[in-house]
Amino acid sequence: MVAALRADGHDVTVIDSGCTAAHRVPPVADVSGVPVRRVDLRDRDAVAAALVGVDAVVHQAAMVGLGVDLDDLPDYVGSNDLGTAVLLAVMARADISRLVLASSMVVYGEGAYECPQHGPTRPVGRAEDDLAAGRFEPVCPACRSPLRPGLVTEDAPLDPRNVYAATKVAQEHLSAAWARQTGGAVVALRYHNVYGPRMPRDTPYSGVAAIFRSALAAGRPPRVFEDGGQRRDFVHVRDVAAANLAALASTAVRPGWRAYNVASGRPATIGAMAAELSRAADGPPPVTTGEFRLGDVRHVVASPARAEAELGFRATVELSAGLAEFAHAPLRG
Ligand code: UD1
Repeated sequence: MVAALRADGHDVTVIDSGCTAAHRVPPVADVSGVPVRRVDLRDRDAVAAALVGVDAVVHQAAMVGLGVDLDDLPDYVGSNDLGTAVLLAVMARADISRLVLASSMVVYGEGAYECPQHGPTRPVGRAEDDLAAGRFEPVCPACRSPLRPGLVTEDAPLDPRNVYAATKVAQEHLSAAWARQTGGAVVALRYHNVYGPRMPRDTPYSGVAAIFRSALAAGRPPRVFEDGGQRRDFVHVRDVAAANLAALASTAVRPGWRAYNVASGRPATIGAMAAELSRAADGPPPVTTGEFRLGDVRHVVASPARAEAELGFRATVELSAGLAEFAHAPLRG
């Protein structure tokens, strides 16, 4: 994103707390030639100093993932929500009125579903007994038939199902309140599964692409949970950077708050993605383990139509080409 912003003529300041839980090695000192200032968003004075002369903020800082256990809860809320609250307060005080916020598809919980008999519906919560018995597909709350997954649009109800998801919903709501009160502009980008060069290595806070890539780098097979049939939309980091540029441009002309899915529109199963990455890396084929995590959702795939219509953003990197590059691209610490 820093490289894309600079190529587009922006002057960029980078701040990063260097959160040790999310980095296996000390975080980098510069990104694409821009020095990284070690600032924690919760430190109001440090944030205010970093924002001098800034006219727009692209806020990507967050603890992501499912974490280790509930001892993580205060850190998630502190980093993601208190951090965002401090940022918004400092921006208001400094008359900075443009914000791009990295949100996530996890705000939707399970995706959109249709029952052959009852039409569009929301699935019943996933029960541990069903998952342990290998019943992974969501079922209709009325008749318990398996549901057909569909594309989630931005108007879908928010339904956060884990701590991280709840902190992302709170970030969205805080920034919407800020936009109403200040007259500022916020674009919330609901990222789907991001992958690509310079991803962090495998940590409890990493997404599946980084975990699989790290396993292959160590000569181990990717471990595919459930039966591998769960669907996600993998979107390349260069496309995500392009979406941020488009969002930033929109905050210059359109006040108020608006959310967009950032997705390729071409979903894949986790099993298929793992197989393709293993092949591209010349590594061992994936192992499907049947393991499951209660906080996981089964399918979440989105419509990218609103971002294309309103921001002019369309993902361009095909998954097979992106994975071929990612299989050999360097990871960061
Ligand atoms: C991920 C990110 C989330 C981000 C969202 C959108 C994490 C942990 N999750 O959510 O922060 O907001 O994308 O960008 O960073 N799986 C395996 N094997 C593994 C690990 C996971 O098969 O070793 C499976 C999981 O069961 C799940 C799928 O892969 O079905 C995706 O997992 P993951 O990337 O962890 O979480 P998302 O819910 O997609």
